Amino acid sequence: MRQSVDRTPVWFMRQAGRYLPEYRALREGRDILELCRTPELAVEATMLPLRRMPVDAAILFSDIMVPVAAMGIDLRIDPGIGPVVPDPIRGNDEVWRLRTLDPQAEVPFVLETVRLLRKELSVPLIGFAGGPFTLASYLVEGGPSRNHERTKALMHADPETWSHLMFVLGTSMAAYLRAQVEAGAQAVQVFDSWAGALDPDDYLHFVLPATRELFGSLADLDVPLIHFGVGTGELLPLMRDAGATVVGVDWRVPLHEAWERVGYDVAVQGNLDPAVCLAPWEAVEKKALTVLRRAAGRPGHVFNLGHGVLPGTPPEILERLVDLVHERTEGSAGAWEEGP
Ligand code: CP3
Repeated sequence: MRQSVDRTPVWFMRQAGRYLPEYRALREGRDILELCRTPELAVEATMLPLRRMPVDAAILFSDIMVPVAAMGIDLRIDPGIGPVVPDPIRGNDEVWRLRTLDPQAEVPFVLETVRLLRKELSVPLIGFAGGPFTLASYLVEGGPSRNHERTKALMHADPETWSHLMFVLGTSMAAYLRAQVEAGAQAVQVFDSWAGALDPDDYLHFVLPATRELFGSLADLDVPLIHFGVGTGELLPLMRDAGATVVGVDWRVPLHEAWERVGYDVAVQGNLDPAVCLAPWEAVEKKALTVLRRAAGRPGHVFNLGHGVLPGTPPEILERLVDLVHERTEGSAGAWEEGP
């Protein structure tokens, strides 16, 4: 890991999404879960951004809730809202009834999508899964949540049940990611997007153990393991301890400070504010160059946004951004002045 490269690699979380007219056309009249469960369509969605811009990786088109639905939980993904679980998990009975995912039997269509993609792609394929806290939040809240209050209440009221929930989800996602790698994924990312809602004590006691087991069980795989969350400034050292080889950072922490917090022995991914991409190009360029300056040409920086591409993003801005990152870092690894 952290090998020297000719130029900084760049890809975008949610690079296949509603900001692309061709994605909206593909999605027209179809449920997003139908897209995810139909390998030919999921392949097509994955390929769309690559036809527009020379990003250095593809990310499997799916959703973090796809394997959760396959575990027998009734859910849907509502446009403009996100995952909705009509019968949320509130009691310990429901938690103790959950069974671990069997990827080959329950999500064969995802593994088939991965295999098909490897035949088409000339860049590496990133597989992914949700992190245990983020998945648990959707299951317990029943949908997107600002304060994650029911989730945190369960965590503190019944730590034993909470721990079981974390480990069932963690073990299931570990099996899921291993199956993706065996099918051909060349890197995997754990999106614990909402883990930043926790303070470091609670993250350490209630989420880190299952996450550490998740990454630990994948350590024998010879692929980069990326760990990402939003608003995780205070959690970065703990996330590093979870065992990933790449830590994703959002835009709230300057990249050089984030790298100092996680240590230079791991790679970092990020961290341009996705909202900046709705501003004129000059502003995007300025902010992107700041990210590159902060990365300081150290080996192990993967350029990305600090969170997913927003639906209002003009595709041309991302196209220019990819070119900018490539041009400005061409042959310059190690050549950047240090410092913010
Ligand atoms: O990054 C990619 O291009 C791959 C595809 C991908 C999707 N979801 C497809 C999708 C990935 C990596 C995800 C992960 C995901 N899903 C996360 C973690 C990443 C993050 O954003 O923090 C989360 C929290 C979810 C749950 C989810 N699914 C949300 C919050 C939404 C948005 C709801 C909305 O409409 O605003 C979804 C729907 C979803 N999943 C879309 C896409 C492209 C939106 C477009 C659509 O509905 O077709």
